[in-house]
Amino acid sequence: MMHPSDEPLWDVVEVSKAYPGVLANDRVSIRLMPGRIHGLLGENGCGKSTLIRLLSGVDRPDSGEIRLRGQPVALTSPTGARELGVSTVFQEFSIIPSLTVAENVFLGRWPRRALGLIDWETMRRRSSEVLAELDIELDPDAITSTLSVAQQQLIEIAKAVAADAQLIILDEPTTALGLDEIAQLHALLRRMRGKGHAILYVSHRLDEVTALVDEVTIMRGGRVVSAAGKTAVEVDAIVSAMIGGDVREHYPKERNTRPETMLRVTAISSARGVRNVSFTLQAGEVLGLGGVLGSGRTEIARALFGLDPLTAGSIEIEDRHLRISGPSDAIRAGLALVTENRKTDGLFFNFDGRANISSASLPRYSTFGFLGLHREDAEAASLARQLELSRGAEDKSVRHLSGGNQQKIVIARWLLSRARVLILDEPTQGIDIGAKLAVYRLINRLTAEGCAILLISSDHDELLAMSDRIAVVRHGTITDIRAPRDLTHADLVRAATTEIMTEGRTAA
Ligand SMILES: Nc1ncnc2c1ncn2[C@@H]1O[C@H](COP(=O)(O)OP(=O)(O)OP(=O)(O)O)[C@@H](O)[C@H]1O
Ligand SMILES: [Mg+2]
Repeated sequence: MMHPSDEPLWDVVEVSKAYPGVLANDRVSIRLMPGRIHGLLGENGCGKSTLIRLLSGVDRPDSGEIRLRGQPVALTSPTGARELGVSTVFQEFSIIPSLTVAENVFLGRWPRRALGLIDWETMRRRSSEVLAELDIELDPDAITSTLSVAQQQLIEIAKAVAADAQLIILDEPTTALGLDEIAQLHALLRRMRGKGHAILYVSHRLDEVTALVDEVTIMRGGRVVSAAGKTAVEVDAIVSAMIGGDVREHYPKERNTRPETMLRVTAISSARGVRNVSFTLQAGEVLGLGGVLGSGRTEIARALFGLDPLTAGSIEIEDRHLRISGPSDAIRAGLALVTENRKTDGLFFNFDGRANISSASLPRYSTFGFLGLHREDAEAASLARQLELSRGAEDKSVRHLSGGNQQKIVIARWLLSRARVLILDEPTQGIDIGAKLAVYRLINRLTAEGCAILLISSDHDELLAMSDRIAVVRHGTITDIRAPRDLTHADLVRAATTEIMTEGRTAA
């Protein structure tokens, strides 16, 4: 067992990195100690992923020095960084969908036998070991593309852990994970800390940060504004300064439920595991879907949006029966879906932010590929301001935006679409606290206009605060619908995992 020492493992000294039009890292310094978990915080676009790309050999700094155990080193390629003991879970997934789980876990480092033949046996065995250590129940031979987003994220993590590097960097590793998986990841990271690994951890979830990290660095506009030392109080204070208010008053919930029924779902089932789901959604209402990862919430959203065909049941919007055989029918009927899989489903990477925001509200949905831009521009710009999209983000190619800003663009697009029923699947994951507030305010504004919202969120505080009613989902079906005041965190977890449903509280 190694012990934390006073010598930094990695020492980044006054490193700068410019991209066209932006100084993404401005004389950034950070020290990463063995046996410590270091949190890296700051609003979207402040330069966190840039710093990580420099430490991972993906990009090279324009100036400054990076030292490993006191010695200056040049990190000129991802392979080079890996050989120096850096392993990174990138914000964007880097797994290859057509490969198996085991092949992805050992991507770039496939074990070989004599004559250079790939050692499939070792690869499979080692993958199983790593997956077991993470408590992940996955078949090493499964093809990655068949797995859920959460499972793919777990593979990313397994990949980094399998490399057993001295420095492990995780750039928002939990955006797709449920509470159980997050707890497992944290436990694993604590074990690795105990073994002397240095860990750099980026997250926008403060509960996570306060629970896990030993010290923090906070960035703003490419610079380090606060370094090292951490208490929960300190983090709260910084966040308050960032958003200009009390951290605990994040939820400006307004009640806008009207008597008219907007959406009536009757006994729907789908091939993907939705079973006999019924509920109604009033105009102006927010119905939260609670449940653990894999409980079937995303599958309900997919079935409503026509992504998976219904095998039974019916859907009515404003008393009109719908025949949904695909997303274009759903959009025509007034439904919109912000998927949890934004990075892959949601963006036209070669267009700029404004074109991406406008694309859902074009008059002809069938001509998705042709983006004629006109009157929506002004509204796109106003929405971008409300979401505090980084300056210039609208005009930049989306490919070059920070992860959080990409996310804001997908959300903005659907908020502009004037849908009557909006399905939001984990809408605030990966966006900073200021933008979360903006999303909550937009939810209020939309519901005030009569839009009905189905909100899927693994953030229990958010779900409890922003929903008018909460439906608990388990094994693809709704087991209970209650008012948030009748539910606690513990209830949500328990209700989703065990049979505690009481009579008389069935789906309304
Ligand atoms: N390849 C690139 N070309 C142009 N600009 C870039 C490129 N990569 C990053 N940027 C810009 O650098 C700035 C910092 O981005 P970075 O991805 O480091 O932010 P971040 O702190 O990780 O944000 P988030 O929390 O949203 O992930 C942003 O303004 C971003 O648009
Ligand atoms: Mg980032």
